[in-house]
Amino acid sequence: MTQTSTEKKVFIKTWGCQMNVYDSTRMQDALEADGYTNTDDITDADLVLLNTCHIREKAAEKVYSNLGRIRALKNKRAGTNRPMTIGVTGCVAQAEGKEILRREKAVDLVVGPQTYHRLPEIVSKAKNEGRQVDTEYAVEDKFEYIPLATKKQVQARGVTSFLTVQEGCDKFCTFCVVPYTRGAEVSRPHSQIIEEAKSLVDAGVREITLLGQNVNAWHGLGPKGTEMRLGELLYDLAEVDGLKRLRYVTSHPKDMDDGLINAHRDLNVLMPYLHLPVQAGSDKILKSMNRSHTAAEYVDIIKRVREARPDIAISGDMIVGFPGETDDDFEATMEIVRQTNYASCYSFKYSIRPGTPGAELTDQIDEDVKSERLQRLQALLFEQQQAFNAGCIGKTIDVLLEKTGREAEQLIGRSPWLQSVVVPSHCGTIGDTVTVKIIDKNTNSLIAEAV
Ligand code: 5AD
Ligand code: SF4
Repeated sequence: MTQTSTEKKVFIKTWGCQMNVYDSTRMQDALEADGYTNTDDITDADLVLLNTCHIREKAAEKVYSNLGRIRALKNKRAGTNRPMTIGVTGCVAQAEGKEILRREKAVDLVVGPQTYHRLPEIVSKAKNEGRQVDTEYAVEDKFEYIPLATKKQVQARGVTSFLTVQEGCDKFCTFCVVPYTRGAEVSRPHSQIIEEAKSLVDAGVREITLLGQNVNAWHGLGPKGTEMRLGELLYDLAEVDGLKRLRYVTSHPKDMDDGLINAHRDLNVLMPYLHLPVQAGSDKILKSMNRSHTAAEYVDIIKRVREARPDIAISGDMIVGFPGETDDDFEATMEIVRQTNYASCYSFKYSIRPGTPGAELTDQIDEDVKSERLQRLQALLFEQQQAFNAGCIGKTIDVLLEKTGREAEQLIGRSPWLQSVVVPSHCGTIGDTVTVKIIDKNTNSLIAEAV
């Protein structure tokens, strides 16, 4: 296709958490209003944005290796009528903005996660005036300036959608960069959340996942002027006509209050799935991580959640090899995993993050020991996940159909427990919730037939 002079194309590569995925769509929306269309072909882009993650060292380093390759593309285009502009956004931009400009001369702009609404203006300044850095904190502004996506934009993204309700974190776990890159915890106002939910559903969205780095710390004034927490917000969202499914990620045990647990008991639209990271099973390590709860408290929360909603799937995050972790401490991690019995769980080797208190601890663990522990933990988690999936075989369940499958005559949807399910296409169309029978499973998905 030949390009007219007014057409501009943006390529966005996204790393990291769901918040970054959501932010990338917001950047697309903001740039679309400025005449950019999205492209999946980096060689055809006028603007390349790397939306980055700083959570572990490997994630951050990938940015620099990618930039090296993109510089070559930019150089090829220098002097043509389509020069390439390169931007780094997200948490690496926030944490290492100046360092990025110093290390990689090809970068034209660096923008932190709080100011995406200004992106079109910053891009145009970078083109006209030279390199730009914008890593100011203005989270309240960000919420205020988030324009609602248009119906067309929402429809292009399918029947499930994220909705940010909270950003930042005040917990300061000693391993984590989030409180530094995303700033203090800020909740989005109730009225804005309900308005966005209604407009998403109006455009055809059937499932909304509320997003926040500490989503269950959400709080705000309700329509009657009283202070609400996440549980109560969920009751209000459940009233949105046409919304079939609600989810929320990611939560902290400290904020898992009775109101939220009761919402799991009472609300059919709230899916029976809880992502509640514990990180470690030893009280000594939990204390050193500044998690502000014990292993027994976590186990008790899980017990109460399961009493409220017996079929709930529990998911989590684990870190092995935090400084000072002995064999016994690691065994305590294995033990809490056995007690919790996860449907799915992410696990990581501890990665030193400069500027966090964990980086100052002296008793760092050898890489070999971390690797060996991670392998043992992941074997146990894999076993639990496969057992959970196998337990679904023979059951009749509801699946929200989300997209076409790899093979003709197949649709892909999600179970209430977030498993991917392959469904025969005659069962329904995308956007339908269909009742099907699970007859088999692969490593990463369930296979269904019509009932
Ligand atoms: N090293 C390893 N894993 C980490 N996480 C956060 N910071 C680190 C780190 N420094 C993990 C935690 C968190 C998930 C998003 O990433 O498990 O819950
Ligand atoms: Fe990081 Fe802890 Fe906050 Fe989660 S709760 S974002 S792990 S500091």
